[in-house]
Amino acid sequence: MNIALPLPRIENTLHPNASLEIASLLDGLLQPIARIDSKYFYDDIGCELFNRICELDEYYPTRTEAGIFSLYAQEITQALPSGAQWVDLGCGDCSKSRQWLRHVAPERLIGVDIAGDFLQSSLIELAARNPEVECIGVVSDFTRDLDLSALLSECPDAPPVFFYPGSSIGNFARPDALRLLRNIRRNCGQHGRLLIGIDLVKPIEILEAAYDDAAGVTAEFNLHVLDVVNDQLGSNFNRDNFRHRARYDGVQNRIEMQLVAQREHRVDLGGQTSRYFNTGEHVLTEYSHKYTPDGFGDMLKEAGFGRCQLWTDPDQWFGVFLAEPSP
Ligand code: AVJ
Repeated sequence: MNIALPLPRIENTLHPNASLEIASLLDGLLQPIARIDSKYFYDDIGCELFNRICELDEYYPTRTEAGIFSLYAQEITQALPSGAQWVDLGCGDCSKSRQWLRHVAPERLIGVDIAGDFLQSSLIELAARNPEVECIGVVSDFTRDLDLSALLSECPDAPPVFFYPGSSIGNFARPDALRLLRNIRRNCGQHGRLLIGIDLVKPIEILEAAYDDAAGVTAEFNLHVLDVVNDQLGSNFNRDNFRHRARYDGVQNRIEMQLVAQREHRVDLGGQTSRYFNTGEHVLTEYSHKYTPDGFGDMLKEAGFGRCQLWTDPDQWFGVFLAEPSP
């Protein structure tokens, strides 16, 4: 028997501007150090590879965060407002929010993600399992800008709880991370909260292994971005000409994922444009910033948050911050 499920409400704030996307992708590839934005990792194959990364022994963040969430679920829940509008930033399949629904009983769940089709199917399932929660999808590139004020003000008595797990904010260079935190702060109003997962500074061997695993899954994830770019641009990157490298920069406190050219060659970038790569020259594909508890606390203050609570694991490898807006 086939039961037709009601479609959840989806708001699309994405103004797909294909030519702008292509222009900024090209612009990155033509910089002195070629750059591909990390958001291009996550097509269907990339999402699957990322899920496999999360299961690797070397990749500690996912399971460490999950451990903190399950150990302190009660305590964290008590610190959250009840009847909230739970806003999951970059919700993907909503699996992390699903765990929280049992504890926090929000009035609404708002899933925000750039991948519209995936968002819709995730929400259909979530809504079917949680009929007491109003599930809404917002298709948006919240890394560019985030304005949920109209949507949130439909329920003026339900404060928003922004949920941004997985240390995803680590992908942003500090000024961009601060800009995003300020945006979240603005959307929080006076009674909202931010629950955010942050990967913490730790010994370099552990960090580099997490981004260069023995089975080569991260290498595959990194090289796969070249296929995504070829699709977008009609370029002819040949992954055999590149090698995966993950380096920790102890000054900036960040992992840099790179694709290093193994031989000199020219890549046709589609249209009339091309780029020459020297042997050893690299494409920068990802930053993954690591913070100290104090360092991230300061950043939250700078973004307009006041009181903060922090939960960590026994090794202090990962931190879960709960931040309140400063008055
Ligand atoms: C999804 C951005 C949190 O930086 O650890 C994992 C992505 N890249 N392995 C991270 C990633 C390589 C991940 N984030």
